[in-house]
Amino acid sequence: MKITIITVFPEFYDSFLKTSIIARAIENKIVSVNFIKFSDMCNIKERIDVPTCGPGAGMVIKPEVVQLAIEKAEKDFGQGYKIFFSPKGEKLTQDLLKDLTRCLDTNFVTQNSLPAFAQGFGGQAGTNASFAKPVPHLILLCARYEGFDARTEQVYANKIISIGDYVVMGGDLPAQVFIESFLRLIPGIVGNQESVQKDSYSGSFLDYPAYSLPKVWNNLTVPEILFSGDHAKIEKWRQEQAAQDTIYKNFDWFISSNPDKKDIDLAKKFIPNHYVVLMHSQVNVTCNNDINNNICVGHTSITSLDIHDIARSSATYGIKNYFLVSALIDQQKILKTFLDFWMSQEGQDYNLSRFEAVSRIIAKLNFDEVIAKIREQEGVEPIIITTSAKESNLGNTGPKVIDYNSQSEIFSQKRPVLFVFGTGQGLSDEILNKSNYLLLPIKGLTDYNHLSVRSAAAIILDRWLGLKNKVE
Ligand SMILES: C[S@@+](CC[C@H](N)C(=O)[O-])C[C@H]1O[C@@H](n2cnc3c(N)ncnc32)[C@H](O)[C@@H]1O
Repeated sequence: MKITIITVFPEFYDSFLKTSIIARAIENKIVSVNFIKFSDMCNIKERIDVPTCGPGAGMVIKPEVVQLAIEKAEKDFGQGYKIFFSPKGEKLTQDLLKDLTRCLDTNFVTQNSLPAFAQGFGGQAGTNASFAKPVPHLILLCARYEGFDARTEQVYANKIISIGDYVVMGGDLPAQVFIESFLRLIPGIVGNQESVQKDSYSGSFLDYPAYSLPKVWNNLTVPEILFSGDHAKIEKWRQEQAAQDTIYKNFDWFISSNPDKKDIDLAKKFIPNHYVVLMHSQVNVTCNNDINNNICVGHTSITSLDIHDIARSSATYGIKNYFLVSALIDQQKILKTFLDFWMSQEGQDYNLSRFEAVSRIIAKLNFDEVIAKIREQEGVEPIIITTSAKESNLGNTGPKVIDYNSQSEIFSQKRPVLFVFGTGQGLSDEILNKSNYLLLPIKGLTDYNHLSVRSAAAIILDRWLGLKNKVE
């Protein structure tokens, strides 16, 4: 395969291409790399860049210079798949790299087996290129300054790629990141293809931890199992280590990776049990007969919708028990009436799936009873995460505020997790002060966020434990 790099600074690549695996791939003629320097597309003393139109500073690379460079690359080596690097592009991921190997791999691939985005490149930026089959020529365009004139991307780019949500000085480091990660996937370039297939981000789990000799270093010992000689046991151990590392370090990757049932079952070994409690006592309410609407700590009424709907959300997201707390005997009686029906044979016969959801409900008189029950089941206190529609006003003395990307931080503590939901005017300070963490309020793009507690519970559970499935 041929790679043409169009850049301001070819010298950037001197040691990059002469080192290690890439040098060997070039030596073995698996890949060849050529450069076109933007300044060679101009007359002597002519600048390659021009000021951006409109107010404000900044220079862009002239569109005619880009055009000449691409025309030269294609005249020399044939039609090429053109990648522009830009922080505004599609994020470079292992999935994107895999797709690109299918477009760029040579010879045998037919039009039909191309990924949809590559077929005729119809879905990509307004290119006039049309490819009957994958091309053996890759053209990488690296800008500097403010980047390219937007029209050049519109006309030529088959892909615009960003290496992450940050800005570097030019497209050359992004091109090098791309070349390394892309060539890694081409058979014959990395010696051991098996190790590539097991790389992090190739499946639902990160790679397993690697160890070497000496056996003891810095008082840390290589796990004994690796010396057992039992390959099946070692493989199983490595899979578990990989799953544990993923859940404790990058849970977001796991839930975005389209895990299958086997991966989910393995991951569940490291995701702590989760519990939910809905507080109808120890909550803030408007004080009785108070014309100034002052807030007191009090009770609210149990509602049938919250019993059912939070139980159904709990079943969906694998919540072990859903506690309902009310200190009022009459409210407890209402709840008992509901539960007695659903737990009866009549209830099960009426709607088995509702029975399944409701069967995780436990009634309690106060918050401490909930904690005691979880401690009894798990042998350890839960991590308590409170929820609120308002920002915390407890300052440094209150629970630590966390967001919806904090799962790994919480899961790696290896304790059960309890989400606490309030009713009325929200959880009392007593409950907030007992919690370890407070979750940021749910917000949309408006100033309104007065959600029903069952809606809030569903949204929070989905953000916390929901799969972010992608179309394959
Ligand atoms: C200084 S940057 C221009 C950034 C531009 N003003 C912006 O904020 O989008 C110049 C060039 O560096 C490259 N570049 C910078 N950051 C990048 C990233 N995260 N991914 C890919 N290319 C990047 C692109 O080629 C870009 O056109």
